[in-house]
Amino acid sequence: MKLTIIGTGYVGLVTGTCFAEVGHQVICVDNDPAKVEVLKAGGIPIYEPGLEELVKKNVAAKRLTFTTSTAEGVQNSDVVFIAVPTPPLPDGSVDLSFIEKVAARSRLPSRATKSSSIKAPCRSTPAKK
Ligand SMILES: NC(=O)c1ccc[n+]([C@@H]2O[C@H](COP(=O)([O-])OP(=O)(O)OC[C@H]3O[C@@H](n4cnc5c(N)ncnc54)[C@H](O)[C@@H]3O)[C@@H](O)[C@H]2O)c1
Repeated sequence: MKLTIIGTGYVGLVTGTCFAEVGHQVICVDNDPAKVEVLKAGGIPIYEPGLEELVKKNVAAKRLTFTTSTAEGVQNSDVVFIAVPTPPLPDGSVDLSFIEKVAARSRLPSRATKSSSIKAPCRSTPAKK
């Protein structure tokens, strides 16, 4: 399948690399250009033993690519996973603004977005009331 992971941090990079390793075509998106440059140059911006080798292997196999463009990821995928931060707010609720920004950027013209694409947030915190 063609998959996109939006947010290439601890969750997104590991998830995307593992999906590529089992044979999926994966685009990892991040809005931090410095992070994407490191990844494109063959490095990894996080500490995760064993991950760098897997990233290099799947980049070489052309199953794993990196971009800062949400549109590029959304347009070219069957499923989009959202793995951006969901920090706590002072009142204890969850800041969903990162997810909301991604959702807004993903609202592309229907011609540009596959009608079958599914967007799945990756998060572990309780939803805002
Ligand atoms: N780290 C964990 O162990 C863990 C476990 C379970 C769930 N989660 C959840 O997974 C989500 C991601 O956590 P993480 O630890 O990977 O965070 P992280 O901070 O390591 O990575 C998030 C990435 O999202 C990028 N980002 C932010 N806004 C963006 C946007 N609009 N478009 C593209 N990229 C954007 C950031 O630049 C960053 O690289 C959070 O909601 C967290 O609660 C994390």
